[in-house]
Amino acid sequence: MDGVMVSEDEEPSSRYIVVKALEDGVVIMGLTRGKDTRSHHSERLDAGEVLVAQFTELTAAIKVRGKAEILTDVGKVASGL
Ligand code: TRP
Repeated sequence: MDGVMVSEDEEPSSRYIVVKALEDGVVIMGLTRGKDTRSHHSERLDAGEVLVAQFTELTAAIKVRGKAEILTDVGKVASGL
């Protein structure tokens, strides 16, 4: 798996993440909050595109597939090989 998963379990609807795609075809998935974890939305970014995403009542975790720079309030991480 050449991706990263960022999640938060407390205080829904407060945090944002910023994802900058470093290659074409980076996929960002929103994973549902609660007992059942499923992907409820996905966005595809091309190189240089940026998505600002928020954790919500519906979204507890965000998965990034592909080469990207990810900023959160706990720091910066790179996904992809
Ligand atoms: N449905 C899971 C939950 O609400 C989503 C989730 C939160 C998750 N944090 C995670 C999934 C960490 C994988 C890893 O708990």
